[in-house]
Amino acid sequence: MSAVVIIGSQWGDEGKGRIIDLLSNHVDMVVRFQGGDNAGHTVVLGDKKFKLHLIPSGILYPDVICVIGNGVVINPEVLIAELDDLEKKGINISNLRISCNAHLVMPYHIVLDKAGEHRLGKSKIGTTHKGIGPVYEDKASRSGIRIQDLLDPKIFRTKLEESLKFKNAVIEKVYNMEPLDLEEIFTKYRKYADRIEKYIVDTSFLTNKAINENKKVLFEGAQGTLLDIDHGTYPFVTSSSTISGGVCIGAGVGPGRIDEAIAITKAYVTRVGSGPFPTEEEGDIGNYLRKKGVEYGTTTGRPRRCGWLDIVALKYSVMINSIDSIVITKLDVLSGLKNIKICTGYKHGGKIYSSLPPHQTILHKCEPIYEEFKGWDEDISTVNNFGELPENARSYIEKIEGMLKVPVSLISVGAERSRIIVRDESLVQRLFKQKRRSALTV
Ligand code: GDP
Ligand code: IMO
Ligand code: MG
Repeated sequence: MSAVVIIGSQWGDEGKGRIIDLLSNHVDMVVRFQGGDNAGHTVVLGDKKFKLHLIPSGILYPDVICVIGNGVVINPEVLIAELDDLEKKGINISNLRISCNAHLVMPYHIVLDKAGEHRLGKSKIGTTHKGIGPVYEDKASRSGIRIQDLLDPKIFRTKLEESLKFKNAVIEKVYNMEPLDLEEIFTKYRKYADRIEKYIVDTSFLTNKAINENKKVLFEGAQGTLLDIDHGTYPFVTSSSTISGGVCIGAGVGPGRIDEAIAITKAYVTRVGSGPFPTEEEGDIGNYLRKKGVEYGTTTGRPRRCGWLDIVALKYSVMINSIDSIVITKLDVLSGLKNIKICTGYKHGGKIYSSLPPHQTILHKCEPIYEEFKGWDEDISTVNNFGELPENARSYIEKIEGMLKVPVSLISVGAERSRIIVRDESLVQRLFKQKRRSALTV
């Protein structure tokens, strides 16, 4: 077992960073393959909290190579701030590698993201305002500027001039805003180039070499399956391929090289931004989950919308990502609820849907069909053995496994690295065969 892809199976914020950090203790390389600093991956180590936006969540281990792949879009200002912060905290950042082919988020992308959302008014997507949509637009229209362009001031300037001419026309004429200054951007980005130049390589060679040498590689997904540009709840999605297949494009490895796909699944569901969410709970239950689960965006601080676990959406996720096993996170948050619900179908127009309906209007308007289970009162945050969980918590996990027909390999019961229950030893055998590194102290 060499290459494993970890994706979010819902609408993001499932706890991917927390699990990647845990598994990174046993791997050689962690590779981000899509998204940008719209991602916010939290890792808690003792009393320290790390919020990672661009840097892979393996960075806390001094000997793990952390790769930002070609499919990622990079705001160098954010990247450098993140590097500085980690360095200040004593983390070794010398193992970072940045793809020469990754696209750059430019200041006009951020301006256009915000202005576009403002223009949409009530129909807005609820983006993170990080310029993600506009930068992927430029990539697809072949007018983007890549990391490698930073290394040649002449090329960078030519591309910037060309791009800015058009972007400023839109900024001024469509949005009635002040144009951006070319010299200011050029000077800033020259400085960024000096700072990150040493990390820039063709990461596809590096990653394929690692797999060839039987090194253990984790691919770290950002966002979640239902935010995927093709398979998510379009247009209320992000602009990249968040699914397991995105690895091939965003890291430059063929599909045959990937051994296993793991879905990170929150024990309930959250969503930030607009779009359909059939199991959303806007009353007491939603407030309970938000408060207990501290459901506020890592990137924007926005309160997350909360609701019950949706098996219909999860089944779709399992299929689209070809999932081999599931990691359930935040089970501890459900402690104290008298009853817990799982959505097993959608009702709309006299019809019942047990798989994702073919028209999104149905998803907006449907009524969820629930199975209800007894909850548990016990605090489970220090349990590290499946058998020691309250019976109702165990049967909740078993229900999920039965409905999805996929094993649950790990159960997270707290944000801190040690708060984990190993449910399926075989995953541990496959992934953790490699010698454990000594515990990290920072
Ligand atoms: P990501 O974007 O998928 O990496 O997830 P985020 O970091 O944005 O959001 C997950 C939040 O839940 C973070 O604040 C984590 O520290 C926290 N978290 C992760 N796993 C658990 C867990 O099992 N229990 C609790 N209570 N918190 C968790
Ligand atoms: P992680 O990796 C949750 C959501 C935004 C918005 C939509 C489009 O932390 O799970 P964008 O800025 O990407 O154009 O916004 O996608 N979104 C996320 N929601 N977690 C994320 O990342 C997200 N990244 C983007 O809220 O609805
Ligand atoms: Mg997040």
